[in-house]
Amino acid sequence: MRDVVVAANWKMHTTPADAGDLARTIASRTREAGVTRVICPPFVSLGAVRDALAESDPDVAVGAQNVHHELAGAYTGEISAPMLVGLATWVIVGHSERRRDAAETDALIGRKLARVLEAGLRPILCVGEQLADREAGRAIAVVDAQLRGALTDHDPAATADGGLVIAYEPVWAIGTGRTATGADASAMADAIRAALDALGWGESGAATPVLYGGSVTSANIAEFLAEPSIDGALVGGASLKPDEMAGIVARAGITARARGLAG
Ligand code: PGA
Repeated sequence: MRDVVVAANWKMHTTPADAGDLARTIASRTREAGVTRVICPPFVSLGAVRDALAESDPDVAVGAQNVHHELAGAYTGEISAPMLVGLATWVIVGHSERRRDAAETDALIGRKLARVLEAGLRPILCVGEQLADREAGRAIAVVDAQLRGALTDHDPAATADGGLVIAYEPVWAIGTGRTATGADASAMADAIRAALDALGWGESGAATPVLYGGSVTSANIAEFLAEPSIDGALVGGASLKPDEMAGIVARAGITARARGLAG
């Protein structure tokens, strides 16, 4: 059975002074057997969050929100995958805000993915269409192209063994309060697994967790987790609120128990 994952993307929020306390509070409010929890603070707060969780709840993993596509070099202000080892065990790659603000392409995201896997870190690859794509009936084609662009050069078995998770985040749903329907998210999860199959992933594609992201809250998480093809959520705004995270992870716990992961 696929893992049930709830990942918190704190984006550009928290400081090293307050991130540890927030992580500790969220950890204590989200103890649900069988749910994989990941907190992704800004780079500068990774150490504080790692230390707070190591002492309060080592079951919660720490993730970075981005990584550079080279191992080292003259890249002022950048962070490489080897630098993250010891600070984080997961890394988000290809978030739509980075595709938008840092002009990240699918090919570049594919190189980041390679660095993440080489470093033994677990990637969350974000994909998702713009509103115009959905309205034009192109949503699945866009996501399919994103997956091919990022994954073509990757060995399916090695990538799956590295623990790849895919987050489907329709761009128009991020931070807008508007969400996809459970049915649309489920159809996209099926399309994502079909794309992996077409890339030669076979059984590994069927075993790859697909999360939904985009304005997830404790009030709407049930709609997504009611879909057997959806394996959890990547949560932005609501992930800074312990009450919201408690509700989201509690609902994920129901799915984990139904899948026999809680034992
Ligand atoms: P949101 O962000 O939950 O605030 O919409 C999700 C994300 O960008 O990962």
